Amino acid sequence: MKKKFEVLQKVKKVKGTNDLFGDDILLHNQIKKSFDKVCRSFNFKEISTPILEHLDVFTKSLGSSSDIVSKEMYNFLDQGNDNLVLRPEGTAAIARAIITNSLEQEINKFFYFGPMFRREKPQSGRLRQFHQVGVEYLGSENCTQDLEVIMIAEKFLAKLGVRDKVTLEINSLGNEKSRRVYNSSLKDFLIKNKKNLSDISKERLKKNPLRVLDSKDPKDQIIIQKSPSIIDFLDYESKEFFKNLTDGLDNLKIKYNLNRFLVRGLDYYNHTAFEYITNEKKSQNALLAGGRYNGLVKNLGGSNLAGVGWAAGVERLAMNIDKIVNLNYKIICFFSTNLDLNKELLKMVYSLNLEPNFKINIISTGSLKKKFIKANKIGADGCIIFGENEWPSNQVVWKDFSSGEQELIDCDRIHQFLKEKFLKNVIKR
Ligand code: HAM
Repeated sequence: MKKKFEVLQKVKKVKGTNDLFGDDILLHNQIKKSFDKVCRSFNFKEISTPILEHLDVFTKSLGSSSDIVSKEMYNFLDQGNDNLVLRPEGTAAIARAIITNSLEQEINKFFYFGPMFRREKPQSGRLRQFHQVGVEYLGSENCTQDLEVIMIAEKFLAKLGVRDKVTLEINSLGNEKSRRVYNSSLKDFLIKNKKNLSDISKERLKKNPLRVLDSKDPKDQIIIQKSPSIIDFLDYESKEFFKNLTDGLDNLKIKYNLNRFLVRGLDYYNHTAFEYITNEKKSQNALLAGGRYNGLVKNLGGSNLAGVGWAAGVERLAMNIDKIVNLNYKIICFFSTNLDLNKELLKMVYSLNLEPNFKINIISTGSLKKKFIKANKIGADGCIIFGENEWPSNQVVWKDFSSGEQELIDCDRIHQFLKEKFLKNVIKR
């Protein structure tokens, strides 16, 4: 027998992506707002680059051995045979934007916010679509700029109340020359110890020995701890640069740990590398990370520009914020005792000056009892009732849900009444 109704299969979300709503999106917006304020106060300007970029923007900058380029990019040919990617990070895209918009002669201080895409194994704190806030300072080779972007990070993390939960780790990767010499010495050392390395590290050793230092595998760690230190391979210029950085941090009384194994996973870094990591022992513990990338713009076909910056994962920041900071608002429900009064109610609500700290919620259907139940369910703090007995004398009833008290208000005073009642004494959610 033929089935009368076919049950349609539910559509699914893409693994490692999230729908943002409710408190989550409020928290994201709050993080964005705090970030925006700190960056603007350091005279950084906002930039928004496209999510779609040509593949070579990332292959020419991040390095073919990086996890992102070798296995994590969402890469496809579009209908016109253009080889495109969903951007996995913002730095290379901003370097491209500087070339495209002929901004190479200027000092560029940019900040950005937006979704990034990496096909990683999804887990807590590791998504396939996540959001980053970031800053990029291009056009200056001076270590003061490294300090300036770190100062922005410090102010931002403190504003969110997470600075005390993280440690700043720093390292120097030296200039290109120092790094080349170090790379070759590290390679020799790792080849001698190859038989004890994990399979992943053996693979990494073939393409980029530095990446072996990223491994958290206990087997690899035994070898890594005995490996040569990059600090011993820094030439005079690189040593001076790093000394100026650490002296600068000491001068600002910014606490940090030196971590000689911090190499970052992307090829474009030189000199400064840093990460703010949570004190928890898990692999997704970097909240904010960055460094210097002199020469990145040149590798993309532009001038030989210096640059330094960082990015922070908004989802990871959100996981570490105890409560929603400063999301203070009141929910006020408006409803009437009979349907005819809804017209007047809408007119009244439309005429009110909107206040960011109170949320108006109109309830238009159901019995009076049901309207009260709905108001309670959405967590209202009180309600304004348009009643058929009060309306002829141009009045409405105010019911306060926390005290249970009720009072009559003149219609032309509604806005003033709510302001006096709530804007002095808003609650935390
Ligand atoms: P990154 O270390 O790849 O650096 O990412 C920066 C931050 O983005 C991480 O510390 C983390 O908080 C967050 N993040 C990275 N991948 C994921 C993921 N799969 N899920 C959730 N959060 C993630 C960069 O992207 C460089 N562009 C940073 C930079 C800017 N360097 C210089 N300027």
